[in-house]
Amino acid sequence: QERLKGFGKGVDFAPRHVHVIGAGVMGGDIAAVCAQRGLTVTLQDQTVERIAPAIARAAKLFERRFKGDRRQVRFALDRMIPDPQGHGAVRADVIIEAIFENLEAKRALFSDLERKARPDAILASNTSSLRLEDIAGCLTDPGRLIGIHFFNPVAMMPLVEVVAGEHSDALALQRAAAFARRIDKLPLPVKSAPGFLVNAVLGPYMLEALRCVEEGIAPEAVDAALVEFGMPMGPVELVDTVGLDIAVAAGKALAGDGAAPPQKLLALVSAGKLGKKTGEGYYRWSDGKPKRGK
Ligand code: NAI
Repeated sequence: QERLKGFGKGVDFAPRHVHVIGAGVMGGDIAAVCAQRGLTVTLQDQTVERIAPAIARAAKLFERRFKGDRRQVRFALDRMIPDPQGHGAVRADVIIEAIFENLEAKRALFSDLERKARPDAILASNTSSLRLEDIAGCLTDPGRLIGIHFFNPVAMMPLVEVVAGEHSDALALQRAAAFARRIDKLPLPVKSAPGFLVNAVLGPYMLEALRCVEEGIAPEAVDAALVEFGMPMGPVELVDTVGLDIAVAAGKALAGDGAAPPQKLLALVSAGKLGKKTGEGYYRWSDGKPKRGK
């Protein structure tokens, strides 16, 4: 408890510039939250077209958070800079990778980043299911890589897991925790084990809900029961929100019981129905909300 309270406090680290790579569900929202809290953010993706939706989502968030104060909204948007070439990585205090959950892609990215980034910059991955040590193996100094694992939706979830790989540098972890506090998140120190802490608990919960759907119970019924129980969102809606592809990848890493993922989940992923981000998963989505059957 004491360690948790003190984690990242009193650390001499005042980040001003964050570089985020991957403008998808997570990266886009991580960038928005940082810009909202007054940091300059460069947001990198493969094309400008992939960055634009993240900026549009951020505009909506800023409208809500700044209650329509146009100046504040404008300033926050000005702090969020599309950066398809990744120039920001050279200057940033904190670099957060949130690209596809693919080990080789992440390794290629970090070996390039290690050459470009300032020697004191934090190099962090938002991976949910890859081993930090496997990513860090591509670095000359594997101690530089840490995990900063955000939760979806980033603007609403107060916790972030600050993940220590086998070789992660202790000061980098403290600085990452200070960064988390700077953007008003609560940093939880965890080790690089499957699911870290939160998903190790949430994974089996979500999987069991999908098994209920597999057995013929409607997603609406499963979700209604858990919302009645007191959860802010039902587990099937949560899987759709997280992204079905991410759920499959995380499920593989977590499958302690060795069971195959539910057939429907695999079928939806093969059909490109990845949940909220593609407009259809277990639910159909419109305006950021699931359409429920009767
Ligand atoms: P996503 O599929 O929504 O976005 C990934 C983005 O990365 C895409 O826009 C893609 O164009 C871009 N990208 C891919 N390779 C790139 C490269 N080499 N350079 C620049 N951009 C590149 O994925 P999502 O859901 O945002 O996940 C990203 C990471 O965050 C994954 O590692 C995932 O495990 C992790 N994560 C996801 C959560 C979720 O709820 N979806 C929760 C916590 C972590």
